[in-house]
Amino acid sequence: MAVKNHAVLVSPIADEVMRGLCAASRHLPPKLFYDAAGSHLFEQITETPEYYPTRTERAILKGYAGEIVRQAGNNLTLVELGAGSASKTQVLIEALLRRQLRADFYPVDVSSSALQGALTTLNGHFPRLRVSPIVADYTHQIPNLNALPGRKLVLFIGSTIGNFEPDEALAFLKSVHASLQPGDALLIGFDLIKDADVLHAAYNDAQGVTAAFNKNMLVRINRELGGSFDLDGFEHVAFWNRRKSRIEMHLESLYEQTVWVQDLGRGFHFQKGKRIHTENSYKFNPASIARLLRRSGFKLEKSWTDPQGWFCEALARV
Ligand code: AVI
Repeated sequence: MAVKNHAVLVSPIADEVMRGLCAASRHLPPKLFYDAAGSHLFEQITETPEYYPTRTERAILKGYAGEIVRQAGNNLTLVELGAGSASKTQVLIEALLRRQLRADFYPVDVSSSALQGALTTLNGHFPRLRVSPIVADYTHQIPNLNALPGRKLVLFIGSTIGNFEPDEALAFLKSVHASLQPGDALLIGFDLIKDADVLHAAYNDAQGVTAAFNKNMLVRINRELGGSFDLDGFEHVAFWNRRKSRIEMHLESLYEQTVWVQDLGRGFHFQKGKRIHTENSYKFNPASIARLLRRSGFKLEKSWTDPQGWFCEALARV
C-alpha cells in the first residue's frame, strides 16, 4: 500500500486531521464542524429547547438595540465578523437606520454562500443600507478596517469568542483592536457561567442534534478523506468543566477499533473509552470579561444582560 507524501495531501482539512489524530491527546479543530451539513445542524441546535444562548442573545439585542447603537456613537459603519446570514444583526440595523439616513454594512465571513444570502435579504429589507460583503477567514487575518469610512462598530456576536482558547481569544481581540481607530467600538457577546444543569442540557439536547453535529466531523472525514469511522462506534460526550470554566465536547470510542483513513495513508487505533476532543465552549463572568477586554486594549464601556443573567452583550471602546 503506497503511503501518500504528507506534502501532497489534497483536501484542505487533511493536515489538521492528521495532526489532531496523531497527537497524544487526540483532538480535531472545531472549525471542521461547519461544512454545509454542520452549519445546518448548528442552526437546528439553536432551535432546540435546551440551547438557550441564541434566543437569549437575540432577546437582549431586541430589547436594547436602540440603546446599544446610541452608546456606540454617531455616523456608524457596521462591520460584522463571522456574519453568516446576519439574521441577529437586523434589529441593530433597524435601530441604526432610525438614527442615521444611510449606513454601510460590511459582513465578513468565510462562507460566500452565507454572505450571498445575507446580501439578498438585507438589500430587500433595507434600501438605505449599503451592504459590501467581505469573504475572509477573520480568524487568520482581520481585514483592514482602517480604510473603511466613518466610526466603526464591529460586531462579534453569538458567543463565538467562547470557542477560542484563552490565548487565542486574547490574540484575536488584540488584532481587532489594532485594526481600529480611537473612538471605534466593539460589540461582543459572551455566554455567562450559570447552573451546571442548564449548561449540561444545552450541549446534550434530548433530540440528539448536538450529538449529530459533533459526529458530523467523522462524517466529513469519511467523505472528504476516505475515512472508515463507524458512526455507531463513537459516542457524543459533553460536560461542564468547572475548573476551566468551559463545556468540553468529545467523541468517545465505544470499543477497541482501528479506523483507516485512506487519504492519510494510515489507520488510527482507539482503545475503548479513548476520546477525540472536538470543542471547548468557554463561559465567562463579569470579571473575566472585563479582564479579557482590558488586556486586549479595549475599554469596557457598557454591558447588557437578560433577566436571568445568562448572556452578556458588551460594548468596548478603542
Ligand atoms: C458557535 N458556538 C458559540 C457554539 C457554542 O455554544 O459554543 C457551538 C456549539 N457547539 C455545540 N453546540 C453549539
